[in-house]
Amino acid sequence: MASPAEIQAMRRALELARAGGLSAFPNPLVGAVIFDSSGNIVGEGYHEICGGPHAEVLALEKASDAAFRGTLVVTLEPCCHYGRTSPCTDAILSAGIARVVVAMEDPDPRVAGRGIQTLRDGGIQVETGVLREEALRVNSTYLHFRETGRSWLRLKLALSMDGRLAAADGGAEWITCPTSREAVHRMRAESAAVLTGAGTVRSDDPRLTVRLSEAGPTGQPVRIILSMSGDMGGSERIFSGDARTIVVVPEGTPTEIIAPIKNLGAEIWELPGASDRVGIDLHTLLRRTAEEGMGEVLAECGSGLSTALLRERLVNSMAVFTAPLLLGAGGFPAVGDLSIPSMDSAIRLQDVRASISGSDTLLEGSVVYGSD
Ligand SMILES: NC(=O)c1ccc[n+]([C@@H]2O[C@H](COP(=O)([O-])OP(=O)(O)OC[C@H]3O[C@@H](n4cnc5c(N)ncnc54)[C@H](OP(=O)(O)O)[C@@H]3O)[C@@H](O)[C@H]2O)c1
Repeated sequence: MASPAEIQAMRRALELARAGGLSAFPNPLVGAVIFDSSGNIVGEGYHEICGGPHAEVLALEKASDAAFRGTLVVTLEPCCHYGRTSPCTDAILSAGIARVVVAMEDPDPRVAGRGIQTLRDGGIQVETGVLREEALRVNSTYLHFRETGRSWLRLKLALSMDGRLAAADGGAEWITCPTSREAVHRMRAESAAVLTGAGTVRSDDPRLTVRLSEAGPTGQPVRIILSMSGDMGGSERIFSGDARTIVVVPEGTPTEIIAPIKNLGAEIWELPGASDRVGIDLHTLLRRTAEEGMGEVLAECGSGLSTALLRERLVNSMAVFTAPLLLGAGGFPAVGDLSIPSMDSAIRLQDVRASISGSDTLLEGSVVYGSD
């Protein structure tokens, strides 16, 4: 069993793991803490960047000789294979660590329990499952990628009390209050990419950049616009040079449509169409974003794209702001038909967090799809 000090160290290791942010993907977020044989903390580390040193190795380097007969507390099973770096299990064994406390196994098939076994075979006492639920939450993007090969998709909606996302004239500025809009900028800062549809670009002309009143982020998320038609006038603010911009069009889109978009400085991704409906295949899109190192994507779109993403069961979590105003039946509904015949098929949120955001409310949670 883990001691109270080890559990506390695991909390610290999870906090360290989170510091890896967006740059660790497609690697997991990992944090590590080392105690010497007298129970003093002598080393800490986290995995900062994909291809960079692992958390355990950084913590061992800091601890140096003090790691001998000490305890390593780490949020993920140490690796036992040669990848971009050599196996962490080798470093742990050669440092003379006596005990390892692990939050969760690594589902990477090259590891999958073998890291823990290697340590045990080397005579190290290993305790597993400590704060496992928290560790699973910290690594939801990595685990989702391992399971599906896709990016994690968070859908943000800003709604009136009667579930409308724009007024009858298409205007949505501003449904929500400044506090909520600032919160959306923070969500963008936490995302590798922001995804929208050409309908939103045409009607709202958003920039989709991070503009925060406090200290700025280190980089801007990539902006991704989906369009079947490629119809965007060219003067839209999204084509300003503030951030990398990608326009996704169907395979075989004629050059006369693609060339003007490229001239605006945007990249083009030509992706296949969905087999059973009109539109680009959204599964392929989210596999492509993952391949390009974008672990978490924030969708900020109108009902056309939101509905398609929900129908395809591609939305992993949602952030729904509700403002204290009504727009009536003439306003644009948040989502279109989802083919939900009964309550059993409802799309729900779980692990719900409800908060007040200025004069709005904010509901956040992970998405659970009902039975068909
Ligand atoms: N309150 C909010 O949170 C919020 C957020 C965003 C937008 N809005 C409002 O939503 C309204 C716009 O709604 P909308 O439904 O037109 O916006 P949208 O969903 O952002 O854009 C729809 C367009 O995106 C493209 N698209 C969607 N799915 C596609 C797919 N699978 N493959 C290829 N292209 C795809 C198509 O572009 P093409 O037509 O070019 O082929 C389609 O017409 C506006 O009034 C805006 O103010 C509100």
